[in-house]
Amino acid sequence: MAPSLDISGDFPILARQVNGHPLTYLDSAATTQKPRVVIDAIRHYYERCNANVHRAAHALAEEATAAMEDARAKVAALIGAGDAQELIFTRGTTEGINLVAACLTGRFGPGDEVLITEMEHHSNIVPWQLLCQRTGAALTACRVTPTGEIDLEDFHAKLGPRTKLLAIGHVSNALGTVNPVAEMIDAAHRQGALVLIDGAQAVQHLDVDVGRLGCDFYAFSAHKLFGPTGIGALYGKAALLEELPPYQGGGEMIEHVSIEHTTYNQLPYKFEAGTPNIAGAIGFGAAVDYLGGLPLHALREREASLVNQAISHLKQIPGVQMVGEFRERVSVVSFLVDGGHPHDFGTLLDQQGIAVRTGHHCAMPLMERLGIPGTIRASFALYNSATDVERLVAGVEKAIEFV
Ligand code: ALA
Repeated sequence: MAPSLDISGDFPILARQVNGHPLTYLDSAATTQKPRVVIDAIRHYYERCNANVHRAAHALAEEATAAMEDARAKVAALIGAGDAQELIFTRGTTEGINLVAACLTGRFGPGDEVLITEMEHHSNIVPWQLLCQRTGAALTACRVTPTGEIDLEDFHAKLGPRTKLLAIGHVSNALGTVNPVAEMIDAAHRQGALVLIDGAQAVQHLDVDVGRLGCDFYAFSAHKLFGPTGIGALYGKAALLEELPPYQGGGEMIEHVSIEHTTYNQLPYKFEAGTPNIAGAIGFGAAVDYLGGLPLHALREREASLVNQAISHLKQIPGVQMVGEFRERVSVVSFLVDGGHPHDFGTLLDQQGIAVRTGHHCAMPLMERLGIPGTIRASFALYNSATDVERLVAGVEKAIEFV
């Protein structure tokens, strides 16, 4: 018998009502809901083995350490990292990118460039601006086409011997565009540049293999992958991480400290100062286990077909304009409706129990390039169903009657 594709029952929150309506959750690009197994894993850690990790010899500390390192190995395997020492736990994608920007500072100076795109989330723009302010390097962004894709001609024109780092999103959070990162990584490496991929929106929807991609860094968050907030991971090539200076100082990241001098711990602990988010890491591992037990291929196909259905139905509503038209898309449907600000539609949809995000989606340069103030963004995950599409379409039609 084919496995059931209705996994919504695994997510307790999806059974609740909002404003007198069943919840229609279409804001998974902002954060995904959490399955019961993830919530239970966190509760189990606090109820049964709460202790600090890597520090004491008592039983609880050993259990907590084993659980956290087990989670690290699972998360590393999820993205095809060859070795768990290449997987640094962070607070999330944003901290991963800031970590790289901080640790690479010494490698940049006047005349060097960081290349990004106009499509980036602010977390893949501002850390590079700060790096450039510290070092005198320049930040360059390659253009996005009016249809919402990276302009590859402009990319190849802007990539050059001055480019020391390429930092790009794997999937656009605002539009859902899947970017041709493999081609861009190869081109950047040919110029001698390092490459960081912001994978926040990719890991749930695509098979990511950092070994095959060949990127130098890959940052992502647990909370967009059915895991808890406040925990994420940064993959970095071991040889590169060995060369970089530490990010923050404190306990855990040291090997030996005297008042005059400190030697640092081995990877990945050199980059994990202080007591880590142990419960978060364990919840992250549980989310990876959960994902591994799903009929992922079939669920992703179903999700893609829901996205296509939403686009084709919304397009037929007079006054609705889709934002972005491209070859490869995951999860996200961004649109505008004539005669109303996206925020008004967000409120009108919320009154019907439909959760979407509205506004610039932390991608203001992209909105500026597209000449719009923001969009209404419905973002799908593996737990959504055809009913969610029907409610979204009916909800937009009803909202139009009010504006
Ligand atoms: N980056 C998240 C989003 O796109 C918060 O909504």
